[in-house]
Amino acid sequence: MKFATLPTLLFLLPQTLALAPLSPSTYLHYPHPANSSQSALPIGNGRLGALIYGALPAETLSLNENSVWSGPWLDRTNRASSSALPSVRELLKQGNLTAAGQLVLRSMAGKPNSPRMYGVLVNMTLDFGGGGIGEGYTRWLDTERGLVFVEYAVGGVKYTREYLASHPAGVLATRLSASQPGKLSVKISLARSKWVLSHTATVKNGSSSVTLVANSGQESDAIEFTSEVRILNTGGTVSKDGTAIQITNATTIDIFFNAETSYRHSTQSTRLAELTRKLDAASAAGYPAVKKAAITDFTTLTQRVHLNLGTSSNSTSSLPTNDRLTAYKTNPNADPELATLYFNYGRYLLASSSRSTRSGLSLPANLQGLWNERYDPPWGSKYTININIEMNYWPALVTNLAETHTPLFDLLDRARARGTEVAKLMYGCDNGGFVLHHNLDLWGDAAPVDNGTAYTMWPMGGAWLSAHLMEHYRFTRDEAFLKERVWPVLRQAADFYYCYLFEWEGYYNTGPSISPENPFRVPADMSRAGATEAIDISPTMDNVLLHELFGNVIETCQVLGITDSHLTQAQAYLSKIRKPRIGSKGQLLEWRREYEAAEPGHRHMSPIYGLYPGSQMTPLVNSTLAAAAKVLLEQRMSAGSGSTGWSRTWVMNLYARLFQGDKVWSNAVSFLQTFPTANLWNTDHGPGSAFQIDGNFGFTAAIAEMLLQSHSVEGAGTSGGINALQSHNVVHLLPALPSAVPTGSVEGLVARGNFVIDMQWADRKLSKAVVTSRSGGKLALRVQDAASFAVKGVKYTAPIDTTAGASYTITPA
Ligand SMILES: *[C@@H]1O[C@H](CO)[C@@H](O)[C@H](O)[C@H]1NC(C)=O
Ligand SMILES: *[C@@H]1O[C@H](CO)[C@@H](O)[C@H](O)[C@H]1NC(C)=O
Ligand SMILES: *[C@@H]1O[C@H](CO)[C@@H](O)[C@H](O)[C@H]1NC(C)=O
Ligand SMILES: *[C@@H]1O[C@H](CO)[C@@H](O)[C@H](O)[C@H]1NC(C)=O
Ligand SMILES: *[C@@H]1O[C@H](CO)[C@@H](O)[C@H](O)[C@H]1NC(C)=O
Ligand SMILES: *[C@@H]1O[C@H](CO)[C@@H](O)[C@H](O)[C@H]1NC(C)=O
Ligand SMILES: *[C@@H]1O[C@H](CO)[C@@H](O)[C@H](O)[C@H]1NC(C)=O
Ligand SMILES: *[C@@H]1O[C@H](CO)[C@@H](O)[C@H](O)[C@H]1NC(C)=O
Repeated sequence: MKFATLPTLLFLLPQTLALAPLSPSTYLHYPHPANSSQSALPIGNGRLGALIYGALPAETLSLNENSVWSGPWLDRTNRASSSALPSVRELLKQGNLTAAGQLVLRSMAGKPNSPRMYGVLVNMTLDFGGGGIGEGYTRWLDTERGLVFVEYAVGGVKYTREYLASHPAGVLATRLSASQPGKLSVKISLARSKWVLSHTATVKNGSSSVTLVANSGQESDAIEFTSEVRILNTGGTVSKDGTAIQITNATTIDIFFNAETSYRHSTQSTRLAELTRKLDAASAAGYPAVKKAAITDFTTLTQRVHLNLGTSSNSTSSLPTNDRLTAYKTNPNADPELATLYFNYGRYLLASSSRSTRSGLSLPANLQGLWNERYDPPWGSKYTININIEMNYWPALVTNLAETHTPLFDLLDRARARGTEVAKLMYGCDNGGFVLHHNLDLWGDAAPVDNGTAYTMWPMGGAWLSAHLMEHYRFTRDEAFLKERVWPVLRQAADFYYCYLFEWEGYYNTGPSISPENPFRVPADMSRAGATEAIDISPTMDNVLLHELFGNVIETCQVLGITDSHLTQAQAYLSKIRKPRIGSKGQLLEWRREYEAAEPGHRHMSPIYGLYPGSQMTPLVNSTLAAAAKVLLEQRMSAGSGSTGWSRTWVMNLYARLFQGDKVWSNAVSFLQTFPTANLWNTDHGPGSAFQIDGNFGFTAAIAEMLLQSHSVEGAGTSGGINALQSHNVVHLLPALPSAVPTGSVEGLVARGNFVIDMQWADRKLSKAVVTSRSGGKLALRVQDAASFAVKGVKYTAPIDTTAGASYTITPA
């Protein structure tokens, strides 16, 4: 196969093949097929996903359905836990960390250690036959419309392949076409190398299909799925070749794909009915109508936000995406639009991997979103809830994609039921509270995962995830949602801790627990001196999460007018949670004592959760804590943190909260120079290492956080009490604008309080903003470093009352 250079191509090919310029802010594009999953292009409808290589002469699409996991629910709870717990706590209090840690691993780890893993669905191969030479090849992804396109020519005939994932139709759709009648021939097949139950092809003139039924794993009661590709040809002849469909001499071929699993449909007949219903409806509507509806749906999400961080000099921004990344390593200043593209791509990926399926059984974006080609992906491609899945949702609210948040709440509902059982069995807490540890699978498996001192024993997953529900309320101001969906979760999350926490030294404590996933050296007086350990009492992050949880309970009680024991208990507990403390170097303390870190450049920023995503340590809430958080961040960075892609994007968000725009930007640049693959996926250590989608989302969130912040600035950091906890959000415009982005604009970001923000800036100063109030209510504002400004021409001095639906123009004053 050879690829003509552009001038040859323009000369040789039909004129329509000449490329329209592809916006460097919204397109990924390549002059050749993908040679690995890390250069293939992902599409998804929040349930089904495909990775598109665009290969010649045969294309193998790697397909996913997000409920295909390796087996049925496993009861892994270690029954020895509850009797070991008092001894563990006694050892921890005595300061015998070595013995405590050993007892935890021996008695409390899940049996088996791992829950289920996410797995591949099937391959679909489109074999175009022959060894045709592809000329003028191009392949692109449009982040705005959600389309992947492949185009090339053979012998003067132009061939195109268009791929999309439709949320409204619930299918993947592809159109293949040739520029001359009768020139398109292709053999279409499905394949799966394991646990296939049946595989058949059916030929009909006009509409043929291939169906593959398989089990997701070895166990007979694993998840069973039926997948079907429906093929509609115009012209040509159709025949069956084993389990494949051969179409010869057609002009256009439309392909619809669906798969349904026993996770969502308990009987085979309901599963088949749903599979067929969607494929019949798509076939009857036809490809053009399916495409139109899919684009309308997708652009409704993507076009809510427009970002301009400056225009790139076209010499590098117009390069194929992989070459553009290479050029960016040496000349980042020429291409500010790469950051814009990466921001847009994050929103694209979230809208593609996290959508509600309306049945309450939707599943959130996992470690790889939903794109996974393996039966045994890295870390099982699970829902890792000690940072990664939370990070997936950091951009959801601020970048105006609130509906992508819902699948996380569906999973949490499922996990709560499991977590109530685990609370009883492991901790003897049968008051209805739920506990989650550091991973979930699709069954909501709440037991501890793996078996190591630095990660297994962390009973705080419920506290962190329930904060997402509260944030959803803060951004949407939807009181019905607060009452029906948030309150039951917060209450039940808090209930667990009312039973689980133990009083000691005048405080309520967690333990055994960890500061995810950071080990320390055991001090000489705490048993085996210098050994690496992580399990202890009340690490800082636990206290910060509890402070937030009880604060959220209190705030919800205030909004909903609840004055019973739910309120008084949260207040009582809040007052006895340890406050963050500061160590000998001015750093925020990570553990109950100033242990020596075993990995000073650790990737997790757990102790400064209160800087981001929390707010307890932000500069306007508590400048003392913010300063200490900054010292810790700088200690970590100078020891080599930010070492994985996702870690680096957490760092970006933290610097945004410290109002250090130049640091946000320099970390964004080094992120883009180090971690993205040819298809712009985030990785742990650069191309070739494990893909993890969290860093894509963390990046998008950080760019937003650099331009707009709106967290609570009163109460959360003060000494407690009901009045101090009144949430009071300040909408802060351009809090961390980098000098590298002196001019720009953004439209459609969302602030807490449900305000939509459009802004322009020039010479590093806000020139104009329009705030649209979607729910009414008080609007407190701050511009940059407390610059003076006017609202509707009147100098701003105090929060203003807004009317729902009204807009407020802000100008410098
Ligand atoms: C894959 O393609 C990229 C260009 O996109 C190239 O840099 C890389 O060397 C190729 N890898 C292999 C294994 O061919
Ligand atoms: C966990 O590891 C400890 C050793 O550190 C071992 O004694 C224990 O059996 C393991 N537990 C499980 C469930 O694998
Ligand atoms: C899809 O094809 C690739 C390449 O041939 C293969 O490695 C992979 O196992 C296949 N996937 C399935 C689900 O069979
Ligand atoms: C297929 O159907 C078309 C009309 O829809 C007809 O023209 C063509 O002859 C049919 N081909 C075969 C092989 O039956
Ligand atoms: C396809 O068309 C070619 C000529 O264009 C012809 O030779 C061949 O027989 C056709 N094949 C079928 C299966 O119709
Ligand atoms: C590329 O940049 C040059 C100047 O730097 C400009 O004249 C030209 O119009 C640009 N081309 C495109 C396609 O934007
Ligand atoms: C720690 O606890 C273990 C187990 O109870 C005990 O054998 C050991 O002596 C204790 N170490 C210290 C320093 O107290
Ligand atoms: C900041 O936090 C520290 C430690 O928790 C606390 O002692 C202090 O009162 C807080 N300051 C403010 C202004 O809230």
